[in-house]
Amino acid sequence: MSQVQEGRTPLKIAVFASGSGSNFQALVESLRASNAPAAEIALLVCDKPQAKVAERAERLSVPAFLFSPKNYPSREAYEKEIVAKLEEAGIGLIVLAGYMRLVTDTLVAPYYGRMINIHPAILPSFPGLNAIGQALEHGVKVTGATVHFVDGGMDSGPIIAQRVVEVREEDTEDSLAKRIQAVEHELLPQSVRLIAEGRVSIDKRKVNVRLGD
Ligand code: GRF
Repeated sequence: MSQVQEGRTPLKIAVFASGSGSNFQALVESLRASNAPAAEIALLVCDKPQAKVAERAERLSVPAFLFSPKNYPSREAYEKEIVAKLEEAGIGLIVLAGYMRLVTDTLVAPYYGRMINIHPAILPSFPGLNAIGQALEHGVKVTGATVHFVDGGMDSGPIIAQRVVEVREEDTEDSLAKRIQAVEHELLPQSVRLIAEGRVSIDKRKVNVRLGD
């Protein structure tokens, strides 16, 4: 925690997730563990009301906006509602952590530079679905995790942080996913903290991270 940060209101974050939510939980717990958190998870946005992440939010007392896309006439309609919820909650950063829907300009335009995603591969390798299966299939010897800004393309935005995980001969998708997730649970909170402390800026494709002080 930098001195500059002390006394500042914590940055309010919305996590978007569709499934298990282990990254959501890791983020909540990591931020809460700090004496003077730079950020707090103020909202979960989830398109699958039955998902395990919704239970985690309840257990951790994080407010949630749970919605079913089929109840809306279009993607634009539910994204507009999401934007209204984000504004109402004073959200300054969106974290996509296993949100299994494309986000369009309705969301990306107002939050460009304030929306990040975590992907289980070293981008630009293996974007899209089943990145871990793609990596195994390709026979790479290393893969890992990437945190990047969202630009509306498929896992294509400017890269903030990456961490490598070695692929073992005997790896299955499950065993490799476990080791990648353990890395994600550190990389995502670290990246969020850097953003909340104002250390991250975007210069076209390049993200500059100011460490130290
Ligand atoms: C993570 O591996 C993340 O990289 C990907 O989806 C997975 C979500 O896992 N985008 P969890 O729901 O956080 O456990």
